[in-house]
Amino acid sequence: MSEATPHRDAPPAATPHGATAVDPSAAGAADHDPARAAAAREALSAVRQEVSKAVVGQDAAITGLVIALLCRGHVLLEGVPGVAKTLLVRSLCQALQLDTKRVQFTPDLMPGDVTGSLVYDAATARFSFREGPVFTNILLADEINRTPPKTQASLLEAMEERQVSVDGIPRMLPQPFVVAATQNPVEYEGTYPLPEAQLDRFLLKLTLPLPPREDEVEVLARHAGGFDPRDLAAAGLRAVAGPEELAAGSAAVRRVQVSRDVLGYVVDVCRATRSSPSLALGVSPRGATALLSTSRAWAWLSGRDYVSPDDVKALARPTLRHRVQLRPEAELDGVDVDAVLDGVLGAVPVPR
Ligand SMILES: Nc1ncnc2c1ncn2[C@@H]1O[C@H](COP(=O)(O)OP(=O)(O)OP(=O)(O)O)[C@@H](O)[C@H]1O
Ligand SMILES: [Mg+2]
Repeated sequence: MSEATPHRDAPPAATPHGATAVDPSAAGAADHDPARAAAAREALSAVRQEVSKAVVGQDAAITGLVIALLCRGHVLLEGVPGVAKTLLVRSLCQALQLDTKRVQFTPDLMPGDVTGSLVYDAATARFSFREGPVFTNILLADEINRTPPKTQASLLEAMEERQVSVDGIPRMLPQPFVVAATQNPVEYEGTYPLPEAQLDRFLLKLTLPLPPREDEVEVLARHAGGFDPRDLAAAGLRAVAGPEELAAGSAAVRRVQVSRDVLGYVVDVCRATRSSPSLALGVSPRGATALLSTSRAWAWLSGRDYVSPDDVKALARPTLRHRVQLRPEAELDGVDVDAVLDGVLGAVPVPR
């Protein structure tokens, strides 16, 4: 993940929140093309409208997935069955010309079923590599906590390394490569909950709530009108952006400026989670870098070239909620992680 603009001794240009002036030597300056970046932002903004031809509402999850693609991070998707998690990922891929595959993680799934394996080709009398479903742009990994640790580890390794090694030979995964994982919320026997250290590797945790009544009526109205979730093209969903716009967007996000004050704010928010009385585990420094990345992407998508404290606030919940752990007492009292994070945001002084 990219670094923030380092503190400089030269007086910074006067921009809101003391953002330092754009430094031509900064990362990505060589391919800096403002017109291309602006076109990419416009195209990516159109993606949301395109996806809404299939998915009613769920705007936060759609934007979260775009941010993950820009930051090259992975996401956890949380929501009860039937709230359009799969439909959302498929629609987004259609709008962005990306490939998507889905894997149902079952107790008997083997690592090779995810990464791929060597198969014997009788015609040539040789072994050849058959790519597993990780060779895609967005991998929908359903119920990853139902598969044993060995298979989870093969997925997590692919997420981290962006390559898989089979028989000692590394094979690069496509770009972009983002895992959207769902977890079975019921902790019945036979689930293998991901350890905290693994959850920290997901950039965002996006929640898909049950739709408001009006939205649900609209879902039914579309079905009554002939909408077929298996035929997105018939719903008028077209490709409005693609890997090129995502690459240009990623480069532009890396040029978004962050003042020392806002860096301090990100750190203060994360540090405050470590001393919250409701939390047994606070946000790690890795979590703080994640919040910096997602805030930058959101600032860029919002049309700015600097990060404001409001960007940090907007992304704090989805970026931090899976990186903290409630104390058992708080859990028994039904305390909600998002409410704890809201409390932290309310208590940490905001730079002006
Ligand atoms: N917000 C919504 N907008 C449009 N359609 C919706 C929405 N919510 C649910 N649906 C309808 O419900 C169907 C089920 O959605 P989908 O299969 O994507 O759910 P899911 O969250 O992936 O469920 P599961 O957890 O069982 O995999 C969709 O194909 C669609 O017809
Ligand atoms: Mg699904």
